[in-house]
Amino acid sequence: MGRIIASIVAVIIGIMAVSVSHGQQTLNPPGLDAHVSRFLNNTRGSWNYLNVPYEDGKILYDLVLKGNFKHILEIGTSTGHSTIWLAWAAARTGGRVTTIEIDKERHEAALENFKKAGVAQYIDARLGDAHDLVPAMKGPFDFVFCDADKDWYIKYFRDLRGKINLNGCFTAHNVLGWNSDGKRFVEYIKRDSKFTTYIEQGSGEGISVSCRITK
Ligand SMILES: C[S@@+](CC[C@H](N)C(=O)[O-])C[C@H]1O[C@@H](n2cnc3c(N)ncnc32)[C@H](O)[C@@H]1O
Repeated sequence: MGRIIASIVAVIIGIMAVSVSHGQQTLNPPGLDAHVSRFLNNTRGSWNYLNVPYEDGKILYDLVLKGNFKHILEIGTSTGHSTIWLAWAAARTGGRVTTIEIDKERHEAALENFKKAGVAQYIDARLGDAHDLVPAMKGPFDFVFCDADKDWYIKYFRDLRGKINLNGCFTAHNVLGWNSDGKRFVEYIKRDSKFTTYIEQGSGEGISVSCRITK
């Protein structure tokens, strides 16, 4: 009997070690990995609102984990595919994702998807025009993912540049292929001596990754 109780206590302590309470959100609660991973696999290929492909979501997830980023901003939620990848990573780093979407229906669909994926507690989803909301964001940020209106990427970067932490990264989707605004943005950010930029090919749509190397 004593051995059984000791085993139960050990299991509970083990669970508590993995699931550290972090303010109002729980850091990497047991079962979350399996739940989100199942959701993303089950919905793979069924995202129809200009969402990033699965491979590109995985790249975002890996970048956030690699940098141990916590203060994450996304511009362009749509129905929330990339946000879920970012929030899953945030659940592991103890971070949080703020995401902005202008379209009410997409914003509401995203809220539903966040609940289904089990990551709602790691996301602050804002409905509004990023042209107004982004300049007013206080920051600082460790990681920005820009995936809204491509002709505004340079402006978003200018608004956020001073609010990105050292080693933090500003990333942008669709910088290869069909979009000339995306390419123009990369030419622009590559000239910034405080950031170093490379391109993740991913699905082929291209994600630029520009990280602050000096204050
Ligand atoms: C390419 S989709 C985002 C896809 C999303 N990142 C994903 O992977 O699920 C771009 C989104 O940006 C939104 N958008 C465009 N201009 C915007 C603006 N000025 N402010 C906020 N959202 C905007 C669009 O409504 C659209 O849903």
